[in-house]
Amino acid sequence: MHWNIQKSPALNCEIEVPGDKSISHRSVILSAISTGPCVVRGFLASEDCLATMAAIKSLGVLVERPNATTLIIHGSGGKFTPPTADIDCGNSGTTMRLLSGLLAGQPFTSRLTGDPSLSKRPMKRVIDPLTTMGAKLTAEGANDRPPLRIDGAALQAIDYQSPVASAQVKSAVLLAGLFASGTTSVTEPVLSRDHTERMLEYFGIPPVRSGLKVSVTGGARPQPRDFRVPGDISSAAFWLVAAAASPGAHLRVNQVGLNPSRTGLLAVLTRMGARVREFIHSNHGEPIGTVDIEGASLKATHIGGKEIPNVIDELPILAVAAALAHGVTTISDAAELRVKETDRLAAIAGHLRAMGVAVVEKPDGLEITGSGTLKGARLDSLGDHRIAMSFAIAGLFAEGETVITGTECVNTSYPGFFEVLKQVAASGGKSEATVVRLEEVLAAALD
Ligand code: S3P
Repeated sequence: MHWNIQKSPALNCEIEVPGDKSISHRSVILSAISTGPCVVRGFLASEDCLATMAAIKSLGVLVERPNATTLIIHGSGGKFTPPTADIDCGNSGTTMRLLSGLLAGQPFTSRLTGDPSLSKRPMKRVIDPLTTMGAKLTAEGANDRPPLRIDGAALQAIDYQSPVASAQVKSAVLLAGLFASGTTSVTEPVLSRDHTERMLEYFGIPPVRSGLKVSVTGGARPQPRDFRVPGDISSAAFWLVAAAASPGAHLRVNQVGLNPSRTGLLAVLTRMGARVREFIHSNHGEPIGTVDIEGASLKATHIGGKEIPNVIDELPILAVAAALAHGVTTISDAAELRVKETDRLAAIAGHLRAMGVAVVEKPDGLEITGSGTLKGARLDSLGDHRIAMSFAIAGLFAEGETVITGTECVNTSYPGFFEVLKQVAASGGKSEATVVRLEEVLAAALD
């Protein structure tokens, strides 16, 4: 599939985005190991999260789905039946890494497989700590790449110093820790998203935090809880940048997750000159609220250091913002982008150059010389949903047509994205805000 995109005037929209991807995965996993039925509302019915749901079902947990975004998960208290086939994690690194933690302590063998992109992603980062805990994990691909065979075993707690700031690694070890004897701790070099910790607390087993160290004690099981998944700020990011980079644009995003370990994008856009306001309405373990943003002529910034894990998924769209800003934006300490769904540093550099932007690619970052102008180009998604969506937004600013090919991959995180793009583009220049209705978008996309 491909998208044809034309330059559009400053948008004026009010929008809701589908459920948070990270939180949707975790809501399924924690409900599954809880001791009774849990209702999850606002679940992200994307390919990645559906892979986690299917995996949990293949472990013998009953999951009902009364509608596309509601799940009733009958938690089995952490007792699973051995899967009768390989567990297909599709494109989802979160599915593979979190499940490896969950399965490490089970008294059976499982095998996790993935698509060609996931099969190139590093698994040593979970193999190392889970092996130290007592499980046997074998990467069948070269250089610790999937498929991953897990021979579960009785686990001992560890005090793990993670070399990477990765919420997937942290969560894998904490999930394994629930099935280990003793208290398991993970210390990360920089705080990564803390959804697992917050959700454990909401489900009645609060982890103990001390600075960058977080600990759980084995044996406890989550209590059954109903849960509402907030909108995904990483999906909202595309529209937020489209508004931020366009003087006169206005965007309101409702019911979006505003967990401070995920809102770095808002800080960066504020630094670049956009007017951003956050209103936090409720906090059911996770802050949820509204973001209002007004566009401006953006200025360059530096993104690096401790900020990186917070904006890790937003760097492709922030690179587009940098290309639309005036001055040289630098991104550093972001080598992790090379092991995402594709090598995102190379993908961003190549695609921005094709749109006429001067980019220097560094081992751990980029130097982007923004001039506020882009030229339309024909660009491939490279199988990466965030590359496809980021460059679709770039297309809204480019002179001439932009064509994005290979767009099926957006279904891994944002079903209905292109339908929203059409409505957002059409809102340009209207005095009254166009309200993009999530239920209608999802009904069409998930049909
Ligand atoms: C995620 C953590 C991040 C992020 C990914 C989702 C999670 O990956 O990039 O999209 O849900 O824990 P890393 O843990 O590899 O940084």
